[in-house]
Amino acid sequence: MQNICIFAQNNQIKNMATHIEIQPIEKSKIDSVDFDNLPFGSVFSDHMLECNFVDGAWQTPIIKAYSPITLDPSAKIFHYGQSIFEGMKAYKDADENTLLFRPLENFKRLNKSAERLMIPAIPEAIFMDGLKKLLEIDNQWVPTNEGSSLYIRPFMFASGNGFHASPADAYKFCICTAPSGAYFSGKLKVLIEEKYARAANGGVGFAKAGGNYAAQFYPTQLAKEKGYNQVIWTDDNTHQYIEEAGAMNIFVRINDTLITSPTSDRILDGITRKSIIQISKDLKIDIEVRKITVSEVIAAAKAGNLKEMFGAGTAAVISPIAGFGFQDTDYDLPELEETYAALLKKTITDLQTNKTEDPHGWRVML
Ligand SMILES: Cc1ncc(COP(=O)(O)O)c(C=O)c1O
Repeated sequence: MQNICIFAQNNQIKNMATHIEIQPIEKSKIDSVDFDNLPFGSVFSDHMLECNFVDGAWQTPIIKAYSPITLDPSAKIFHYGQSIFEGMKAYKDADENTLLFRPLENFKRLNKSAERLMIPAIPEAIFMDGLKKLLEIDNQWVPTNEGSSLYIRPFMFASGNGFHASPADAYKFCICTAPSGAYFSGKLKVLIEEKYARAANGGVGFAKAGGNYAAQFYPTQLAKEKGYNQVIWTDDNTHQYIEEAGAMNIFVRINDTLITSPTSDRILDGITRKSIIQISKDLKIDIEVRKITVSEVIAAAKAGNLKEMFGAGTAAVISPIAGFGFQDTDYDLPELEETYAALLKKTITDLQTNKTEDPHGWRVML
């Protein structure tokens, strides 16, 4: 068992000796899982990590059976939505080594979200050592098949009680994992949103707050009823700028230039996005980080210069967009033989699965 040192008080991390308590399950359920037909995020591994914040301090993390969490009906998560999460993946390489991709970025982003939602920061040692220990224990749950990975869901929420609309006095940090196949299958048809917004200036769009996703479900359902798979979010103020696509950052290729929006209060600082920007530079792809207007995308589509659009995110990796709708008109994207999306997807997945060099030191081997 590993000894790690962690305590946090009023967001100030202090180090004290503690350890991860391991309560192993008696019998694995892995034999009941069909690793050749994995859905996304709905089959769960044997163990989970749970760590409680009480009396102003993070307590000893426990790794135990994946099991229900019992909360008081007045727990503030139910009423005031203090809830944040992360999404990451573990991969196996050809020699069955287990690899993570830029995990410290997820750790930092979780605490950025925590600060905005008044949730106490989780110390790096609990996050990283807890994650590594959990993956060590459930190592056989990391899929080896091409295109599959172990999806990792760290999350934190208010477990403290009371109907007073104020931050809770107790929190839980958990990590659960799910061997998963592809998030989307096939190409996406998206609708450029003109009425609803997922985020606003000064709000929580940059955070991975649960409520951001709840707010997307209704407009996404309306788009689905019109035959689209996803919504492309535009800015809340003018709806003139393209910002994100569902749970992905968005990239647009006009002629041979790839463009993605700068991050802001309203846009999640995606780890895939920033990796794709760097990889594009490495591959000498002309990449611009700047605001993209809906009108320039429409004009490019009409002129035949809109070559590609794709979403980028941990869950979906890179998802090509086949066409989009705007103001009751549908626009199809061309079917190119060689796409930036395919090249970038191969480059990032080869990197994640240890098939190529790692020039930026992004891989972490267990
Ligand atoms: C709203 C939103 N944008 C973008 C992303 C992509 O971020 P990442 O590449 O870090 O997974 C996600 C997924 O986490 C997301 O939920």
